[in-house]
Amino acid sequence: MTDSYRGKTVIVTGAAGGLGRAIAQAFLSASANVVLVDVNPARLAACSSELSTSYPGHVLALQVNITDESAVEEMINTTTSKFSTLDVLVNNAGIMDHYDPVGGLEKAMWDRVIAVNLTAPMLTSKYAVKQFLEQEQGGAILNVSSTSALKGFIAGAAYTASKHGIIGLTKNTAVFYAKKNIRCIAILPGPMQTNVGDAWADGMNEEGYETMDKARAFDPELCELSKVAETVLHLCSQAGSVCNGACVTVDNAWGAW
Ligand SMILES: NC(=O)c1ccc[n+]([C@@H]2O[C@H](COP(=O)([O-])OP(=O)(O)OC[C@H]3O[C@@H](n4cnc5c(N)ncnc54)[C@H](O)[C@@H]3O)[C@@H](O)[C@H]2O)c1
Repeated sequence: MTDSYRGKTVIVTGAAGGLGRAIAQAFLSASANVVLVDVNPARLAACSSELSTSYPGHVLALQVNITDESAVEEMINTTTSKFSTLDVLVNNAGIMDHYDPVGGLEKAMWDRVIAVNLTAPMLTSKYAVKQFLEQEQGGAILNVSSTSALKGFIAGAAYTASKHGIIGLTKNTAVFYAKKNIRCIAILPGPMQTNVGDAWADGMNEEGYETMDKARAFDPELCELSKVAETVLHLCSQAGSVCNGACVTVDNAWGAW
């Protein structure tokens, strides 16, 4: 993959987290310019400092809350001011719920999870598409869904609905802009070792968690972050250009179980 993204610019949301950082690193090692976007200032600073040292001149770090539409518009403008174009948007940022089934689900939790996992990728895609159309050289959007878009027992109602929803956003975007050389693809990762549990560990719905945990008889191996990231690079590259509207499991057979 070395050099395959030279001269290309990639935005990765949630880049200071587990998968986002692995994706950012993989694009950098393929010579891309990478915009690291995250809402967590401490993790973003640590990630940016490390990656900027290894890839000087190729990294831009932006602290952005991607649920804020004006901040998202500014994120695209700052990216193109620095690197001239935008070629790939990776909608990776996401948060977990507390494993609440609908009967015990607070509306505030629903709103928060849908805002980050579904509304925000719509906003980032909207401004990325605008930029792709202005550039007249197309582009690719990669949405990070989950195997919980295939099943009902992996997470709570809010997370499960958000990850099903982003599949619909992916297919609609792919079809609408196919003739404009803009592609949209989703990956559905299985379990990975990241920070995603931080947000719900304190307030977990024990009953919901235990019910779903019992259903996990298959017990899949954790998916290696670097392998998931390499799949993302392939899907967004010219070599993967036949993939449009595709929803690809990267999950050690977890989704097939
Ligand atoms: N870890 C898993 O087992 C797993 C499995 C399937 C899918 N996923 C998906 O993978 C993606 C990456 O998650 P991860 O596991 O690396 O978790 P993570 O918590 O390590 O990383 C997520 C990052 O998103 C950032 N973020 C959250 N809200 C944001 C906002 N409003 N604006 C900007 N950034 C924001 C966080 O600060 C964090 O750095 C998510 O979409 C998640 O749903 C994870």
